[in-house]
Amino acid sequence: MSSVIHTRIAGTGKYRADGVLTNHDLEKMVDTNDTWIRERTGIRERRIALPGVYTSTMASAALKEALDAAGMQPGALDMIICGTVTPDMPLPATAAFVQRQIGASGNCPSFDISAACAGFIYGLSIADAFIRTGKIRTAAVIGTEMLTRFMDFEDRNTCVLFGDGAGAVVVTADHDGRGILSTHLFTDGSLTDILQIPGGGSKEPASAETVAQKRHCIQMEGREVFKVAVRYLSEAAETALSTNGKKPEDVQLVAAHQANMRILSAVSKRVSIPIERFALNLESYGNTSSASIPISLDEAVRAGRVNDNDLVLMIALGGGISWGSALIRW
Ligand code: COA
Repeated sequence: MSSVIHTRIAGTGKYRADGVLTNHDLEKMVDTNDTWIRERTGIRERRIALPGVYTSTMASAALKEALDAAGMQPGALDMIICGTVTPDMPLPATAAFVQRQIGASGNCPSFDISAACAGFIYGLSIADAFIRTGKIRTAAVIGTEMLTRFMDFEDRNTCVLFGDGAGAVVVTADHDGRGILSTHLFTDGSLTDILQIPGGGSKEPASAETVAQKRHCIQMEGREVFKVAVRYLSEAAETALSTNGKKPEDVQLVAAHQANMRILSAVSKRVSIPIERFALNLESYGNTSSASIPISLDEAVRAGRVNDNDLVLMIALGGGISWGSALIRW
């Protein structure tokens, strides 16, 4: 056993929202069709949270599963981090609600990270830094997102893309050399305009006018996001591998943020990792933003696709534009 601390994922969990919105349902709402959506995005249906379910309740359900998988009690958590841009409310943090809902210790710092679809990797990187420096021993990192409640269901450019859900991991200090090998985080603030929810903040405080103009709904320049996503996700994957002296063929599983199947196919080709190694669920979940990596990771783990010592690569990109990668020895 080495004295070097690594951060190991001890358990994973997810919340699968109960409602389903199919492409055919959307055909009745906006000028779109199933063929266009499937061919341009890879999405067939998306999950929608039912009334009475919130971002925090999805997160708590996912975290409970992850704690069970880790064989731990809520009291073991020293920190709770929620990656979310769709919090229960602007104040307090969704993570504070999660702390109460799962019955974690009142001394456990609990906060949200706003890095859009990259929120889970940002949270993982922060937890890793606290654990490796010995400040804490065990943390919950959650990606939880309910973008359908920030959606203009008359805007076909966005409403066909997103779904609700949450995924969680419990990470803990370990000494056997396995765990997170590296994380890399990036932001290009010159691209803040291409993916936004412009209303409801200090720049455009909520008013009857902002609501009427749907300024509280997500707005996106899809083509621009697409271009930077392919480039930056590929670069982040290459950085993770080169930093650790690894080759594409060393990677057993890629848990990538899933926004569009064509983005993932292009990244797969660019980084020379076959698409069969990607954990994919976009077809039935849609883009669940910060939740997409932990949900697909959990599904891969429960399907027996991840074995001890496998190399797992995570890559994500979202509004900011913020992106990043993590490489993990499972
Ligand atoms: N149904 C039918 N047609 C649609 C449509 C829809 N839901 N949405 C757009 N179109 C139309 C456009 O109006 C356009 O028509 P035109 O040629 O007559 O002007 C045509 O389809 C092509 O539009 P375009 O925007 O070029 O499509 P695209 O191939 O770039 O696909 C996205 C659009 C949004 C699916 C794609 O750009 C994308 O996935 N971008 C990244 C999104 C993303 O990752 N967002 C979140 C980051 S986490």
